[in-house]
Amino acid sequence: MEQERTIEIRHEPETHRGFEPEIQERPHGNCCCPSPQEQDQLYRRLDEYIDSLAGQEGVLIRVLHHAQNLFGHLAREVQIHIARRLSLSLAEVYGVVSFYHYFTTEPKAKYTVEVCMGTACYVKGAANIIAEVEKELGIKVGQMTKDQKFGLQVSRCIGACGLAPVMVIGEDIHGRLKPEMVADILKQYN
Ligand code: FES
Repeated sequence: MEQERTIEIRHEPETHRGFEPEIQERPHGNCCCPSPQEQDQLYRRLDEYIDSLAGQEGVLIRVLHHAQNLFGHLAREVQIHIARRLSLSLAEVYGVVSFYHYFTTEPKAKYTVEVCMGTACYVKGAANIIAEVEKELGIKVGQMTKDQKFGLQVSRCIGACGLAPVMVIGEDIHGRLKPEMVADILKQYN
């Protein structure tokens, strides 16, 4: 595909359409989408961040991280925006988004429950923890509860192997878990 090579960084929301439409459409949630004004503000903040990286190489992952923090997920429109700003193809951006577990193209839950499946956690029964979380929340890994309160993901080692098995909810690390602890932990989150 012909790629634009301009390095100019500016906001062009009206150009988002018709640009490599080969990835999934964003499912439209009906309760947590930002208003058009908020959306515009988020794009501005993303642009400011991209501007701050001008002249640096290999910034795609950093930009994607920042965008996901801002928008909650990396919708198609956001990926298109980033692709244009970084003079990359959408396929390149989507390739990175789909490669890393951390990135999500769907709206994120209020709380993401991440169960570590690194070696130490796996050996100490992380699979049982996942099964218990799935049972408690009624969802599978990669899904979100209907009320969008909890999402469930698995992660690689988070560097807390001494606490294995570990799950992270928001900023909290819960360690030395047993399946019977899961329900009480989840109840702490409103
Ligand atoms: S393997 Fe789970 S924290 Fe390291």
